[in-house]
Amino acid sequence: MIRHLLKVSDFSREECIHVIENAIKIKAAPEKYRKSLDGKTLLMIFEKPSLRTRVSFETGMTQLGGHAIFYSIKDSPLGKKENIHDTAKSASRYVDLIAARLYKRQDLKEFARYSDVPVINMLDDFAHPCQVLGDFQTIREKKGRLDGIKIAYFGDARNNVTYDLMRLVGIFGLRIDVACPANPEFRPEKEVLEEVKSLASQSGATFRIINDPMDAAKDSDIIYTDSWMSYGISEDLEEKRKKILMPFQVNSKIMANAKKDALFMHCLPAKRGHEQTADVIDGPQSIVFDQAENRLHVQKAIMLFLLGIT
Ligand code: CP
Ligand code: NVA
Repeated sequence: MIRHLLKVSDFSREECIHVIENAIKIKAAPEKYRKSLDGKTLLMIFEKPSLRTRVSFETGMTQLGGHAIFYSIKDSPLGKKENIHDTAKSASRYVDLIAARLYKRQDLKEFARYSDVPVINMLDDFAHPCQVLGDFQTIREKKGRLDGIKIAYFGDARNNVTYDLMRLVGIFGLRIDVACPANPEFRPEKEVLEEVKSLASQSGATFRIINDPMDAAKDSDIIYTDSWMSYGISEDLEEKRKKILMPFQVNSKIMANAKKDALFMHCLPAKRGHEQTADVIDGPQSIVFDQAENRLHVQKAIMLFLLGIT
């Protein structure tokens, strides 16, 4: 059966550990993997913008001895002259792996259903698995462990990154507090909460969706936030969203309420003065560029795993 990575919970706990530990090994000795994907091709399909994801996948493929194709949906017949079925079937006759950044989870699922090669989600409206696997690699490196870690997430929680963070906390049996407005527009979807609840019942993880950011920060090892203006949200909504989300901004008060050695994380892109203040993201507790770097290493490990190489 072809394995895909559409959300982080498509991998078991053991597989997540395998990928994270392998990413750490690859990072330490990249030259050992220079020919691992010799002759292999990755097709990267983008419907939304990207800096980190595009550049890290392409560089990763080069460093593994393979080749990556950047393909913008704008240049494709998809949705105009062709359906997802025919695109997926045709593309998988050429390449060994497909990575896609599409807006809708239904489109990605359909793509994976018809693809004859593994499909990696590079961000849709439901998940960002490469991000959170890289983030957990970063936490493991910085804290020396994942066990017992408490994460607090702030802001827009109806959000792809939040969803996969919660899932991975559920898989690893950790703790997460999500501080967000009571308005359903900013709260996680029921389907995600049910999945996380089920993962937590097996792993012993605990999670709370709360409205009090100071309470969420308490006892936290990791303070995490994401953009208030995810890709695709209309600029017209920016002022309205800013007003509602401002009480959940990560600032020095939030950081002071967390553990003394708490770290600040953000998947980027970030806007200073929105979801966090500049002193936090540019301060000594911020590890956002380590996160960005680890996308490169973890995605290599993901590709090698999906192709059955290591
Ligand atoms: N974090 C992340 O996925 O960044 P890009 O949108 O730049 O790819
Ligand atoms: N939630 C953000 C993540 C960007 C990597 C977005 O969807 O734009």
